[in-house]
Amino acid sequence: MKRLCILGSTGSIGTQTLQVVRHFPEEFKIESLTCGFNIELLLEQIQEFHPSCVSVATKERKETLKRMLPRDSKVKVFCGEDGHSHCATLPKVDCVVAAMVGMKGLAPVVAAIHAGKEIELANKETLVAGGSIVMPLVKQKNVSLRPVDSEHSAIWQCLMGQPKGSLKKILLTASGGPFRGYSREQLEQVTLDAALNHPTWNMGGKITIDSATMMNKGLEVIEASWLFDCPVDRIDIVVHPQSIVHSMVELNDGSVLAQMGFPNMMMPIQVALFYPERSLGICRPFSPFDEQSGTLTFEPCDRSVFRLVDMAYHAALVGGTLPAAMNAANEVIVADFLAGKASFLDIERTVAKVMERHERDGVTQNPSLAEIFAVDEWARMITEEIRK
Ligand SMILES: NC(=O)c1ccc[n+]([C@@H]2O[C@H](COP(=O)([O-])OP(=O)(O)OC[C@H]3O[C@@H](n4cnc5c(N)ncnc54)[C@H](OP(=O)(O)O)[C@@H]3O)[C@@H](O)[C@H]2O)c1
Repeated sequence: MKRLCILGSTGSIGTQTLQVVRHFPEEFKIESLTCGFNIELLLEQIQEFHPSCVSVATKERKETLKRMLPRDSKVKVFCGEDGHSHCATLPKVDCVVAAMVGMKGLAPVVAAIHAGKEIELANKETLVAGGSIVMPLVKQKNVSLRPVDSEHSAIWQCLMGQPKGSLKKILLTASGGPFRGYSREQLEQVTLDAALNHPTWNMGGKITIDSATMMNKGLEVIEASWLFDCPVDRIDIVVHPQSIVHSMVELNDGSVLAQMGFPNMMMPIQVALFYPERSLGICRPFSPFDEQSGTLTFEPCDRSVFRLVDMAYHAALVGGTLPAAMNAANEVIVADFLAGKASFLDIERTVAKVMERHERDGVTQNPSLAEIFAVDEWARMITEEIRK
């Protein structure tokens, strides 16, 4: 039996991980859960899965949750970054599912790697900002880090059994989001509701907006570069609106392998949790004759319209602390957009300004973890300043 900590158990990936756990009660035991503010759902999860330990975002949420728990409850309640790290490093935990959103997920993941835990990684911001720290640490501690993002799971699965050094190119697929085919003029007019209406995936708010701006694909290019040790100039984005082919790899001999499935995150979660076994499937397998399959189409990404894609490639090529600055600016301005305080194109304009400013001030190469956190904090402050 594998003992799990789920960081971000109340979110889209967190709840789908618990769905997988529900299907396999003999295989998994929930040891700890963390969330931000949704303590009502966390309470339900505590009552169903009986973790020994949970953590929430703030002290205030912690006190409220403690008052909501039955008197005889044995669950220990923590809060904040230290609390999440504590849950992720409990001696009994074998595997940490990193399903928190945003840069806040980095510290508990680093703590879990230090403690030698296996990591199932959904949180892409962790690698975008901290890849230069996380990947060497994974190697040093000899821990297994498995991708949960559907595209990265696809690449990982396509590379299973291939000799080292045989990867020539990654073809990272993208649905294109709700604004595929739009012009710059049309993007000026789009609303929050339209941006939240993703054509193929049902996900948390932040990643849904990142998908609409295509920043999500930019973040994924950087994530793939770290995970598969592949320079970004060998990663191409392919728009595939049906979201059936989750990504492809081209090998040295020109052979191209793809992984397919109907869009459902429980599939990559299950693959990561059971690796190297292949358990019985819980998702409907892809069939070429299914009505939902339709016709599979592929087109290039229009980077002149979705400008955050070029910014992400640029951040990856410059490296150092630039991806962390870009990510932080994006997190802040996307939160503003979600709160109705910014327009859709304010997102790219703001990210561009923060990146320019950071490059002007000087990007730090080979940063320490502390330097990455410092740039993250600086970029958040500058983004707020620009927005005033
Ligand atoms: N959803 C997908 O299909 C999908 C696919 C691939 C990759 N990902 C990646 O997986 C990550 C999670 O995505 P998601 O869609 O599941 O996001 P989500 O639905 O917004 O869930 C985010 C989780 O993080 C928690 N959280 C937020 N702020 C926190 C804080 N300050 N302290 C502690 N916990 C906090 C949330 O808690 P509360 O809700 O309780 O506040 C929630 O449990 C993201 O990095 C995303 O890019 C997601």
